Amino acid sequence: MRHVYLITLFVCVLLVSIFGFRGSKFTSPPMDVFPEWAFPGMKYQPKFRPQSESAFFADGRSDRVPPANTVRADLPLRDDDHRYAGKDASGAFTAGLPAALTVDMKFLQRGRERYQVYCTPCHGAVGDGNGITKRYGMGATPSYHDPRLRTMPDGEIFNTITNGKNTMLPYADKITPDDRWAVVAYIRALQRAQQGTAADVADASARKTLGLQ
Ligand code: HEC
Repeated sequence: MRHVYLITLFVCVLLVSIFGFRGSKFTSPPMDVFPEWAFPGMKYQPKFRPQSESAFFADGRSDRVPPANTVRADLPLRDDDHRYAGKDASGAFTAGLPAALTVDMKFLQRGRERYQVYCTPCHGAVGDGNGITKRYGMGATPSYHDPRLRTMPDGEIFNTITNGKNTMLPYADKITPDDRWAVVAYIRALQRAQQGTAADVADASARKTLGLQ
């Protein structure tokens, strides 16, 4: 009879220890039932804590320098405010593109490519605000051909891309500063394309064919 009590007690302890704490939160790692050699490489992986040493990298540091051209939205402005903030020393939005950039066909093509990736969904391929998102209820996207946006300083457009505006999210972490200027230049090209006059067609016979004179 004593054995029955002992066995019952044992079974109770066993059941409570297996099922009794299910759902409880533990802060320490779970007990290892299977040793590492049973699951090599998966369960135990090396990791680096910030500012710690590493035998893996030649310079012995676990912190790595970001690769070249990494865009960091959290870094402070660099010395050229025009190029990196679209503002002059007084904090006003700048007109024109930074002198360090060369605006040529390649630059505009880069701007078009970035624009088509990031902006067309809302602003539309020709910048009239009729992107695909309009069909899904995003009605507030303005047209670049609005006089207000035609006369907006280049630096302000750069700033809108960097920081976003209301429902338009910021693109600082997706488009590098120089690429943002390429997009600004392409927006200017889009605006120009919608305001053509007969004088823009250089060839007189072509003007005649098009019925422009
Ligand atoms: C998710 C949709 C969306 C995308 C993508 C988007 N925009 Fe916008 N954009 C908006 C909306 C909406 C507004 C109007 C914001 C407001 O004034 O409330 C706006 C406003 C603007 C303005 C005018 C800001 C002003 O001061 O009136 C510019 C310039 C602009 N966007 C440029 C861009 C460029 C360049 C890109 C691509 C890098 C882009 N947008 C991507 C939705 C978008």
